[in-house]
Amino acid sequence: MKIGIHDLEVATSHYVLDLDTLAEHHGIDPNKFRIGLGQDTFSMPAPDEDIVTMAAEASQALLERHDAGAIRQVLFATESSVDQSKAAGVYLHELLGLPANVRSVELKQACYSGTAALQMAVNAIARYPEEQILVITSDVARYALDSGGEPTQGAGCVAMLVSANPNLVEIEPDSGLHTTDVNDFWRPNDSTTPYVDGQLSLDAYLDATTSAWDDLAARRGLAITDVDRFLHHQPFTKMARKQLAALAEHTGTELSDELIEESMSYNRALGNTYTASLYFALTAQLHNNTELAGKRLGFFSYGSGAVAEFFTGVVQENYRDHIYPQNVEKQLTNRVALTYDQYRELHHNFAATSQTFSTPQTTHAPFRLSGVTEHQRRYEAQ
Ligand code: HMG
Repeated sequence: MKIGIHDLEVATSHYVLDLDTLAEHHGIDPNKFRIGLGQDTFSMPAPDEDIVTMAAEASQALLERHDAGAIRQVLFATESSVDQSKAAGVYLHELLGLPANVRSVELKQACYSGTAALQMAVNAIARYPEEQILVITSDVARYALDSGGEPTQGAGCVAMLVSANPNLVEIEPDSGLHTTDVNDFWRPNDSTTPYVDGQLSLDAYLDATTSAWDDLAARRGLAITDVDRFLHHQPFTKMARKQLAALAEHTGTELSDELIEESMSYNRALGNTYTASLYFALTAQLHNNTELAGKRLGFFSYGSGAVAEFFTGVVQENYRDHIYPQNVEKQLTNRVALTYDQYRELHHNFAATSQTFSTPQTTHAPFRLSGVTEHQRRYEAQ
């Protein structure tokens, strides 16, 4: 039985910052961001948006095409949690009006946990093939103002429906795995922005993903040439190029950038979307490449701290009949451009409090965070 990604939809935030604006105000050559990091713009949430509102928007669009009654689990992967106890999946479950007989949980391991959620979903469907599972990857990447990571901020969500006989990608059995304790990037409970050792994070990413590749190659006897396209977690798109070059050197194989080129367009515009980044790479590859039927995709998932996984999936014959690129274009072009001063003010005023506040009505998305009362987050449809 084939099991995998049956359908997917995406959402991003209300605002966008052009990296040329950041470069100009920081006295930096714009090419450092456009070429050096491979990024053009980044998404930034309005005060009435967060990981839940983006997830609800993407999921609602997805479920317009499916029977929500078949969903038995909501697996919500994020590292931008809005609560230390209650799962974001529970808020989402309510906003979507899903039946009560559903398991809803949240998963965390930096940018990696979306892959854990996907694999858990695939394994569950192997046992209960008639069920469907909603896998959410939704994050807001906020770095400190004037820090090295500032140009790599971003926001976005990919919602995926996992099922038997998928329309898009069959996830193949076996994964290459890697865990090592490394302090390259972490965010303690009392901080709204992460601590980052930039150079260490680059090395840790390359070491972990190479090790994950070796693990799967050994377990399944896979050759690098058995993979037709590579997809990466893209904290910035240049990272995918760096990983491909490191993999080429490690395996002694020539690997052309054509193997990743079509996977980068959305991440260039969104910035780092943490858990969602790898799945925006998948979305872009499916949308930009018309020749993928029957082709094997190799997924490099990485989360600081650090956990990596390399796994593969096969694109299904009629995948072009089940993709909706116009929805992504609409999400990207509808974003409202920020001036530098507006961006700084929005960043400063980020509300990480459970004291009572109400948010200005800003987003045009179908769901919004109206504020906090009685220490409880209040969401509403609009
Ligand atoms: P930096 O010090 O700002 O940049 O840090 P740089 O000086 O290293 O320059 C970056 C690139 O721009 C270099 O290219 C320069 O040569 C080039 P490279 O040598 O790397 O190929 N450059 C130019 N190119 C064209 N024209 C110019 C120009 N000037 C310079 N004029 C750094 C960069 C990534 C360290 C920083 O942005 C950062 O700390 N980012 C956050 C951490 C991060 O994204 N790490 C990635 C791996 S870890 C990961 O992916 C996990 C993560 O997503 C979190 C999670 O898992 O939850 C982050």
